[in-house]
Amino acid sequence: MTNITPNNTPYPAYRSSEKGSFAWDSTVRRWPIILEKSMADMRDTVAKSQSQQVQAEGTAIIAGIQALMDEIAADQPLRLLKDDEEDTAVWNRHIQEYFQGLTWFSATWLFCECYLYRRVRELFSLSAHWKEFDIFENQKVETFRGSQASVFELARKMPAMIEPLPIEKQEIIYQELLHVCLWGNATDLSLLTNMTEEDIKRLQAIEAEHLAEQKKHIVVDDTDALWDKLAHLNQGRVDFVLDNSGFELFVDFVLADWMLQTNKAAKVVFNAKTIPWFVSDVMPKDVPDIFARCKDPNFFPKKPTPEDQEALVKLVERWQSYVTEGRLEVQAHDFWCYGLPYRFMRQEAPDLFDDLKKSDLVIFKGDLNFRKLVSCCDWPVTTPFKEAIGEDLAANFTSIVSLRTNKADTIVGLKEGVKEELEKTVSPNEWRCSGKYAVVEFSK
Ligand code: F6P
Ligand code: MG
Repeated sequence: MTNITPNNTPYPAYRSSEKGSFAWDSTVRRWPIILEKSMADMRDTVAKSQSQQVQAEGTAIIAGIQALMDEIAADQPLRLLKDDEEDTAVWNRHIQEYFQGLTWFSATWLFCECYLYRRVRELFSLSAHWKEFDIFENQKVETFRGSQASVFELARKMPAMIEPLPIEKQEIIYQELLHVCLWGNATDLSLLTNMTEEDIKRLQAIEAEHLAEQKKHIVVDDTDALWDKLAHLNQGRVDFVLDNSGFELFVDFVLADWMLQTNKAAKVVFNAKTIPWFVSDVMPKDVPDIFARCKDPNFFPKKPTPEDQEALVKLVERWQSYVTEGRLEVQAHDFWCYGLPYRFMRQEAPDLFDDLKKSDLVIFKGDLNFRKLVSCCDWPVTTPFKEAIGEDLAANFTSIVSLRTNKADTIVGLKEGVKEELEKTVSPNEWRCSGKYAVVEFSK
């Protein structure tokens, strides 16, 4: 296909104009729930403030979110941003160049959803007292609190997992940790509108038996191909393009820790978001925050035993030392918070593109990163992952892997017949969008 643009994707882009689609459901049902919850949190914060000016501005921001909801419901055209942030001019160029005159329902779902979070950000950017406020902070913290059992279980298990072991045993541990890291992506707060907390706890469970059962739900599984890569990797650089904070970030650290301890990696880079994003995504500030929470014996709802607390503190102190020593670096880039597919990375963020080219392996976590990698369009489901990410990424990056629980229709890489087999027992919506199925897709 010639002339691929963010609005002219290789196959038809998902758009909310298609009634009954997941994109449409997100726009008419899920976004309002997310925004209502955020407004409720804002109201609580406003009420706690002692300053009248802060309160007045906070109340105006809440009104701004309500107005944004009304604008979406009325399917208004996407307007230019009015703030003056580092990324404002770029965002406005994208709107003018690709989506001029298009509306919340007629522009691509990918662009609109990113634009939604950027518009929420605009309300804070334009304020005097709320500039740095993370409207989703409360939600991030509360969900992490609910991950107590798996957090302590991992903290207890980690010492045995990083002992020097023969390569066959290492492989078994790799399989387990990779899948823990994969299913950690089920903890996405913007999907809580579909899933119960019980569902999420079940998906987070990390016992070997449970993981084996879950394996049946991995519809594209390149775990072995990735192991071939890692088994031969010595002192490399591994990048994580992070997704969610809380438990998912915790298990990203677990996998990074294992890579550093087994000398697969000499350096790990965590790529985070620059603004509050899709409710739960990691910003750099969330990293010291998660360390502090883990080290606080009163953070989790049930008081941990002294042994458990000690195991967790030891683990987190090791992670902190990686950061201090520069073996683990946390960086953020505006590109991750644009509304464009990643095939436009070289064009839009050449510095980032060149930097990631130096990495031996780039791990893209989660659903949104997957949608952006494959341009969030309706590919034939058996399209190879390598083809869907586009030649530029496939040919220039050493290796890319996507660890994603499926939370949107977008899918590629299925073997022939898998879709038909799946759909004998589960609905397309269930395996594509519920977050209970997953993919591990690798391109070398
Ligand atoms: O709303 C769109 C979406 O991609 C969902 O499908 C998913 O719930 C959410 O955004 C983000 O998921 P993740 O945190 O895994 O990127
Ligand atoms: Mg996310």
